[in-house]
Amino acid sequence: MAPKILTFLNPLEAAEACGARTFELLDAARRARGRATLAVSGGSTPRIMFQWMARQNFDWTGIEIFQVDERCFPPDHEQSNYRMLKEALLGPAEIPAAQVHRVLGELPPAEAAAAYAQEVASVFGPGLPVFDVVQRGMGADGHTASLFPGELMIGDITGIAAALWVEKMGQHRVTLLRGVLEQTRSTLCLVTGADKKAALNQVLGSPFDPLHYPAQIASAGMEWFLDAASRSGA
Ligand code: 6PG
Repeated sequence: MAPKILTFLNPLEAAEACGARTFELLDAARRARGRATLAVSGGSTPRIMFQWMARQNFDWTGIEIFQVDERCFPPDHEQSNYRMLKEALLGPAEIPAAQVHRVLGELPPAEAAAAYAQEVASVFGPGLPVFDVVQRGMGADGHTASLFPGELMIGDITGIAAALWVEKMGQHRVTLLRGVLEQTRSTLCLVTGADKKAALNQVLGSPFDPLHYPAQIASAGMEWFLDAASRSGA
C-alpha cells in the first residue's frame, strides 16, 4: 500500500494533525480490542505534538505507551527522550505511570535492551509485538528510530529491541528493531524542517534500500506528516 503523504504549512500544523490522527487510531484500537498501544519517538520534533496532545481532553484509559528508542542516559538527563516525553506529555496529561513502559536508559545498554524487550513482552506476550500506532521521526541523515544508515542491525527482522553504539552521536541507544516497525498496524512519521528536505527526497523517492535509508522501513498503515519546509521543491 502506498504511503499517505500529508504536507502542512508549518511544523505546528503538521504536529497537530499527527497528534489528532494518533488519537483517532488509538480510539479505534481501544474500541476494537479494549486497549491500545502506542510507541513514540524522541528527538526534538515531536515535542510540540506531545504538548498539543497534553492540552486535549483525551481519555488515556487503556492506552499503553512505549518508546521507539532511547539514548542511554538516566531519565532526568537532558539527552533523555523519556525526560522530554514526561515534560511534554506524561506529566501534563497526568498519564498513570503503570501505563508507561520506558527504556531504562540508566542501565548498561545491553541490559537496558534486554529489560525493554521483556517489558514489551510482559504487555504483548511472546513473539514480535504488534503496536497499534508507532510514531516515528527522521534524522537529516535518513535515520529513523535509532537505526542509522549502514547499521547492520537493520538486517535483524526477528528481534524486539537492541542496544547499539551510534558512532555519529557518540552514544549508546536502545531501539525497537525493524521487524517490530514493519509489523505495526499504523506508522505516523512526523518530519519537519528544511534540514530534512534532502533526506526526505531520497527516502520517499529512491528504491527500497533500508540499509542506506532506514526511514524507508515501512508498515501497512504508513502516513507522513510533513511541513512545507521539508517538502518544498520536491
Ligand atoms: C532520537 C529519536 C530519533 C529521532 C530523529 C529525529 O532519539 O533522536 O527518537 O530517532 O526521531 O533523530 O530527531 P529530531 O526530531 O531531533 O530531528
